[in-house]
Amino acid sequence: MAFSSWWVFVSTFIASAASQSTTVSSNAATYTNPIVPTGADPWVTRHDGYYYMTYTTTTNITILRSQDLVDWSNAEVKLAFDPPPGQNYSTDLWAPELHNIADRWYIIFTADPNYDSPPPILDMLCTFACPAVNHRMYVLESSSSDPWESNYTLKSQLDTYDQFAIDGTYFRHKTGLYHIYSCWYTAYESWPANLCISKMSDPWTVESNVTERQLLSVPSNPWEKTPYGRSYNERLSSNEGPQQLTNPNTGQEFVIYSAARSDNRNYCLGQLELVGEDPMNNQDWRKRNEGCVFYQNALEDAFGVGHASFTTSPDGTESWIVYHGMRNPYTGWSARDIRAQKFEWNEDGTPNFPRPGYGPYEVPSGTNATMRM
Ligand SMILES: *[C@@H]1O[C@H](CO)[C@@H](O)[C@H](O)[C@H]1NC(C)=O
Ligand SMILES: *[C@@H]1O[C@H](CO)[C@@H](O)[C@H](O)[C@H]1NC(C)=O
Ligand SMILES: *[C@@H]1O[C@H](CO)[C@@H](O)[C@H](O)[C@H]1NC(C)=O
Ligand SMILES: *[C@@H]1O[C@H](CO)[C@@H](O)[C@H](O)[C@H]1NC(C)=O
Ligand SMILES: *[C@@H]1O[C@H](CO)[C@@H](O)[C@H](O)[C@H]1NC(C)=O
Repeated sequence: MAFSSWWVFVSTFIASAASQSTTVSSNAATYTNPIVPTGADPWVTRHDGYYYMTYTTTTNITILRSQDLVDWSNAEVKLAFDPPPGQNYSTDLWAPELHNIADRWYIIFTADPNYDSPPPILDMLCTFACPAVNHRMYVLESSSSDPWESNYTLKSQLDTYDQFAIDGTYFRHKTGLYHIYSCWYTAYESWPANLCISKMSDPWTVESNVTERQLLSVPSNPWEKTPYGRSYNERLSSNEGPQQLTNPNTGQEFVIYSAARSDNRNYCLGQLELVGEDPMNNQDWRKRNEGCVFYQNALEDAFGVGHASFTTSPDGTESWIVYHGMRNPYTGWSARDIRAQKFEWNEDGTPNFPRPGYGPYEVPSGTNATMRM
């Protein structure tokens, strides 16, 4: 008791001294996290003076638009897709992403037929309880080259061989377009959740067959398992939320993915780098096995940080990560909110992510000051 009140006193003093010195030494406008007070699986892209954000609402696909990357309080809201009932994609819409490919916009998302409650006869076939066994990937296409004015219509289901698939994304490479997503080894495996890759002939068609599909990563390290280091089974061990990240200076290609489990503090980001010529060759990828590249910061109550996407400051000079995290590590998925921070690049060309926290941080370079008044 005495110790904890002493510590609150001292740390409050340190924090206020630190924030004062920041204020004195810099005139720059600042923001704090979260940038959206509740939400998960954020995805952000910058296009023609706007940022577009999608995230998991579970019931529909909503796009937010803002000129300010770190202030969404006045964002415009657009309902892009409200699924009809009774379809395989009617419920639990997760992790939508909005990609500009050629002159159209594609929303790639995950959905399920019936609130993640497969019939018992199906659940019975799984190694562990498998509520998400019927989750599959779908693609919407825009009616025009304008992401905001367009209507979005369902273009197709992505072929994942009638197996579990969530968090799919596009990976663009000089050899073509690829689908990278979270997968099981087989239809009823349940765990672990791995990363798979297949080749596409266009944004809505997978061309690889099931034997050509490759595994890029399995949650084999202690930090990819939940609880940390669990050794006796694979339940809850996850690789998911893959996202392409290109070093703007060197052209190095990374896939940053989420590891461990999204409902608790250990959720973090792992890193794969494409070091060869062929994304379909799993030996052309180098996994950083040492540990997460972005992970919880208990000193600032920033837990469960993951499911990231990447963008740049309004003037294009800075790299930014948009991710979700939780202040309370005990209440699971409902605690997640959406955050953003600037990141740098290491000399070897790998991303150098900051420690997650709440700020205040300087606003992105080129942010319109007039707009913030
Ligand atoms: C989309 O889904 C969210 C979450 O269920 C809901 O709050 C929102 O009202 C929905 N949007 C529309 C336009 O129906
Ligand atoms: C719905 O999903 C089930 C299970 O994956 C599949 O057998 C069925 O063909 C799907 N229905 C349609 C219309 O795609
Ligand atoms: C979108 O759909 C609405 C309603 O069907 C229609 O009025 C509008 O013209 C469409 N917009 C575009 C850009 O196609
Ligand atoms: C997958 O494609 C390869 C190469 O075209 C072919 O040899 C193989 O038989 C196919 N496998 C299946 C299961 O269709
Ligand atoms: C900044 O925002 C203000 C208010 O919305 C707008 O009038 C102005 O054109 C913007 N400036 C730039 C450079 O975008």
